[in-house]
Amino acid sequence: MALYSEKVMDHFRNPRNVGIIEDADGIGEVGNAKCGDIMKMYLKIRDGIIQDVKFETFGCGSAIASSSMATELIKGKPVSEAMTLTNKAVAEALDGLPDYKMHCSVLAEEAIQSALEDWRRKTGEAAPEAE
Ligand code: FES
Repeated sequence: MALYSEKVMDHFRNPRNVGIIEDADGIGEVGNAKCGDIMKMYLKIRDGIIQDVKFETFGCGSAIASSSMATELIKGKPVSEAMTLTNKAVAEALDGLPDYKMHCSVLAEEAIQSALEDWRRKTGEAAPEAE
């Protein structure tokens, strides 16, 4: 069996939503101390909806595929839904990651949560009830 699913390879080779949002409403940057990989997420939020999301990842292929898939999963969705996105859901959407690469998907979850936290800080928005 191939080590990586076709979806992982596809999102690694053709990552969606790469880049920065100049006037982002929320920015989150997280890193993994062990491998040194860094992920940055930019969110554009209007009326409680994630209108746009972009990312920059300086890291391994699994981290790039995870960030790409995570942006696809939250784009156009309510903030309340983005808040509940887990690394497990990202990995599942990628048709799985090898066990020793699961930590790479954690970066995607953390980067999104950190960007949402930044948005809340800037806007004074209360955390919406998770559905
Ligand atoms: Fe560092 Fe994948 S090895 S995030």
